Amino acid sequence: MDIRIDFSGRAIRYTEEEIAAVVAAMRDADPLTQGGRQIAFQEKFKKFNGAEYAFAFMNGTAALQTAAELCLLNQGDEVVIPSHTFTSSAYPFAARGAGLIFADIDPHTRVTTAEHIERVLTPRTRVVVVVHLYGFVADMPPIMELAKKRGLAVVEDACQAIGAEHAGVKAGNFADFGTFSFHSHKNITTLGEGGMLTLKDARRAEAVPMLRHNGHRAYAGNRPNYWIPAMGDLDFPELDGRRLQPANYCIGEVECALGSVLLDRVQTINAQKRERAIRFIDELADRPELIFHREAGPRHNYHLLAARMEGPTSRRDAFMRRMYGEFGIKCVVQYYPLNRYPYYQKLGFGQADCPNADAFFDHMISFPFQHGLTETQLEYMLDCTRKTLDGLRSGQGA
Ligand SMILES: Cc1ncc(COP(=O)(O)O)c(C=O)c1O
Repeated sequence: MDIRIDFSGRAIRYTEEEIAAVVAAMRDADPLTQGGRQIAFQEKFKKFNGAEYAFAFMNGTAALQTAAELCLLNQGDEVVIPSHTFTSSAYPFAARGAGLIFADIDPHTRVTTAEHIERVLTPRTRVVVVVHLYGFVADMPPIMELAKKRGLAVVEDACQAIGAEHAGVKAGNFADFGTFSFHSHKNITTLGEGGMLTLKDARRAEAVPMLRHNGHRAYAGNRPNYWIPAMGDLDFPELDGRRLQPANYCIGEVECALGSVLLDRVQTINAQKRERAIRFIDELADRPELIFHREAGPRHNYHLLAARMEGPTSRRDAFMRRMYGEFGIKCVVQYYPLNRYPYYQKLGFGQADCPNADAFFDHMISFPFQHGLTETQLEYMLDCTRKTLDGLRSGQGA
């Protein structure tokens, strides 16, 4: 089958200004990592998001690893997390000895809620991870209130939700930690990989540069001989008297130069994606068997365009098969509940009481929705979606 519309791994095309920023950094940056462009990117992101502290990382997973390290978890602690998410929301916490307890999602918004979280809290819960999946900001105020009452740290996985906001607060800015991804598929990407970690607490923020860069730090003050006792110092970053484990999670200067320029365009990209999503959803309003999450305001950046198909899973599968086989449109099915993967089962986290997440996954369709889609492609996808649904209604391919 000729693929006419792929579920592309690349979301955006770069402007000439963005390309020029990359070329200039390639030409001039010295050093090529951890220099002025990283500082500028962090500062700009801080202002963009309203964050207290922001640190650039090589990807969103590294930002999540660092957040998990700063949570000071002990064996037997529990971390609550939706089962319907990407694996890197979860495994950094499991890797530090925590038990993962899966929270269900709201069937309409497909993100978790304070009620679902509260249902699975135990005296051992220490951290809650909230994921703004698909680019929609979860209802954070009640989650933060609950966390405050129960003394829990909260991590917002905003890897898909850059620029989306709720009640005037940007995604990632409600909680103790916010994590962002600039992966190839995201609404903005720093050449395929990139990430950001935001924090509110000064003590935690102080540990981040060493955590990010192998435990390296500069010697304080002027030394008579700059090479004695060594060029730079090396130690464990510490928090609350506890040693933390550093790694190398640095991002390059070229990526940071690009990230700074992309921050000027991200809200335009988000608005364009939102406008297209709403148009697509409204055009299909007379086909109620396909249920979308319609959110016309800035709370959704429509990183992805996901729908649920009414009826048995076989009907969803027939839709996917026909869209691909007959029309060359590659929809995908995303976010296999984490408890179903061998990785989590082998860790002992194969159980989850998450009926909404299970039902959504078994009926979901994620349409190709990269920013680079042309209007012609979008119209073609709309037309083929109508034809496929009508074919299924009349019993073809079911
Ligand atoms: C919800 C979510 N969390 C975490 C990540 C990890 O980000 P990265 O791929 O930049 O490591 C991603 C994306 O890939 C994601 O979609």
